[in-house]
Amino acid sequence: MSYTFYLPTKVIFSDKAVDDLMAVLDKPAEPVLFITDKGLVKAGIAEPFLTQLKESGARVVLHDDVPGNPNLEDVLPAVEAGMKMGCRWVVGLGGGSVLDTAKAAGIMLSHPGVDYEDLQWGRVPVTNPPFPVVCIPTTAGTGSEVTKVTVIGDRKGFKKGLLHPFVFARTAIVDGSLMLSLPANLTAATGMDVMVHAIEAFLGKRASPFTDLYALEAIRMVRTWLPEATANGSNLEARQQMAKAATMAGIAFDQSGLGLVHAICGPLAGAYHLHHGLGVAVLLPYTLDFDAPAISPERWYALSLALDLPDSAHPGDLKNVMIMFLETLGLPTRLGEVGLKQADIQAIAEGATRMAMIGNNVRAATADDCAAILTAGL
Ligand SMILES: [Fe+2]
Repeated sequence: MSYTFYLPTKVIFSDKAVDDLMAVLDKPAEPVLFITDKGLVKAGIAEPFLTQLKESGARVVLHDDVPGNPNLEDVLPAVEAGMKMGCRWVVGLGGGSVLDTAKAAGIMLSHPGVDYEDLQWGRVPVTNPPFPVVCIPTTAGTGSEVTKVTVIGDRKGFKKGLLHPFVFARTAIVDGSLMLSLPANLTAATGMDVMVHAIEAFLGKRASPFTDLYALEAIRMVRTWLPEATANGSNLEARQQMAKAATMAGIAFDQSGLGLVHAICGPLAGAYHLHHGLGVAVLLPYTLDFDAPAISPERWYALSLALDLPDSAHPGDLKNVMIMFLETLGLPTRLGEVGLKQADIQAIAEGATRMAMIGNNVRAATADDCAAILTAGL
């Protein structure tokens, strides 16, 4: 099998993201479009960056109005303000929604006069390299800082990802100290997103030796550090390890794809406005139970080592292993607890089969299979 590994993003594992940002922007900085959210401004996390930028003489357009799951209408005002000021850089400080907004803004700024919806739906090709984007994650979750996709809702709110090599950020600055104040429930849910990214990248059909390295190490790091990061959020070592794991899992899944958990989570989260990390977390045990018969002995050996399972364990144990891990993290273990209703199962299952990533899953799944997984997890 042939494969390509392409990561143009410079990744800086940092313990002082403010200083690293200033170095990346090579002073005197050109005008900067700085995208974040109100929560991070309120929590004082954005403030050191803004202060340092202003002290360096950089002109900054601040856009702090990014909601969760942003739509085009949420991004356009930032881009218009950035264009007016002649911004040459985009900085995104936040979780996946902010980073995706920053990456989309980088593309929009380099395609003036082109409707982003046309780019999003492939009616107009992406032709121009983006304005340079610096992504600074404040959650250990999506891995958006190292992926070539940005998911922004179109004008009707349909979540349509734009996937193109020009979407990659120029630089990712990964600093776990920015995550110290993330509440336990969000730490656990976003951290489980990392676990699922890594497991799906490792088990998926497009896995390669290059992505296995990142995926297996990310699995090991999440298994080791997520319980501590959740129970003791002020543990800087745990935060830094989870920050690295999230980026490594992002590298793995961007290159090798996701699988059935994410395929089902798309319509599931859409139906109930469910937090993405929570959705994939609760789906994981039941989906792995379905996948178990398709896991080869070689894959199982490597996975069981990364999960630190005893020699006697076998793939059929994955469901209970993951349920116990969720319990350790204080997360729900049944889909009914996060809103799933029996009456919706068929529609969600059919929606899952329309998600592209289902084709990368280690075991082929039909709508009936997806319905059975959802029913088992209810
Ligand atoms: Fe995810």
